[in-house]
Amino acid sequence: MPDGAEQPAKEELSLLVHAMIEDRDHMQACGGQADCGTCRVQVLEGIENLTPYTVDERELREEFTDYFEPNERLACQCRPTGDVTIAAPNPPPPDLRFV
Ligand code: FES
Repeated sequence: MPDGAEQPAKEELSLLVHAMIEDRDHMQACGGQADCGTCRVQVLEGIENLTPYTVDERELREEFTDYFEPNERLACQCRPTGDVTIAAPNPPPPDLRFV
């Protein structure tokens, strides 16, 4: 669930970097390389306000189709272009490098 915290969107930064700037405890296991899938977020509102899939994000989603919900994005691969409301998946997603 979202915790209600708001943060100004910076279009040049990924959602993962936004979390790091605010010292949020956001899971990531591959250093933002679109390899692990652990950084994924559920987009509750404003999914149209995120940059399109990168090639790397698309490839990971295609390889692990059953592990992704349609409203999930990799925080390390997308940047906000407007308002979005996100939440961390619960339970946390598995590291796709080891499934
Ligand atoms: S940090 Fe591993 S996929 Fe985003």
